[in-house]
Amino acid sequence: MEVIIRKNRIEARELTARLIADALRAKPNLVLGLATGRTMEELYARLVREHTDTGLDFSAVTTFNLDEYIGLAPSDPNSYRSYMNHHFFDRINIKKENTHLPIGVAADLNAECADYEARIKAAGGIDLQLLGIGKSGHVGFNEPLSAMRSRTRCKALTPETIAQNSPLFDNPSDMPKRAITMGVGTILDARRCLMLVTGADKAPVLAKAVEGPITSMISASALQLHPRCTVIADEKAAAALEQKDYYRWIFANDPEWEPYR
Ligand code: GLP
Repeated sequence: MEVIIRKNRIEARELTARLIADALRAKPNLVLGLATGRTMEELYARLVREHTDTGLDFSAVTTFNLDEYIGLAPSDPNSYRSYMNHHFFDRINIKKENTHLPIGVAADLNAECADYEARIKAAGGIDLQLLGIGKSGHVGFNEPLSAMRSRTRCKALTPETIAQNSPLFDNPSDMPKRAITMGVGTILDARRCLMLVTGADKAPVLAKAVEGPITSMISASALQLHPRCTVIADEKAAAALEQKDYYRWIFANDPEWEPYR
């Protein structure tokens, strides 16, 4: 795992956008794993600007989102499909048929989960998986006790996650209590993981994920097992990391990061 600490939210988002744009320029038919949440809204806006201003080309890209609420149709304004269309897909030159999210109203949810895994495999696997972190330590909706080798499946949401996300619904009690999510094992199969974490409220959970023991109680800690995972945090989110100076030293001295300093 690598941890890069940027001065503020904007710089963290800038670096994350640059890494994604560079990966896309290097491989135009990139298979991108995508995340939702408030943190990602600015990142998508930044990538949209890169598309508009410099012609960053998404025409050959395939995407797979981490998760979707069970019981919300894709057309529901609160679905993650609507979120992705609104913040990203409708604003870039991606082919909609190449954008994948689980269907939260599928007649057979288990079959939908198995099919999602099959679609990822058929696309050749995920090249770059973008991740946020929930206060419960989840990546995607892999709530505490998610098996390290779990695959895409249905998962009940914790009260903490419901408290975190329900304010985004017009009527908070409308928030579904279950979701389909890629498993921890699905995420660990991605060739590269990029986790963007900003804000003081994420500091305690980020410290557990990065410096704590690997435990299914904090699914993000499973990323310590990933051979190529980069965490990009702003100073506020990094506040509780004990080895901050060491991470800064690596970023300042590792030739790999030179173009990004
Ligand atoms: C949701 C998503 C997660 C995301 C989390 C963080 O729960 N399922 O993938 O990491 O939100 O959200 P925010 O950026 O709003 O803190």
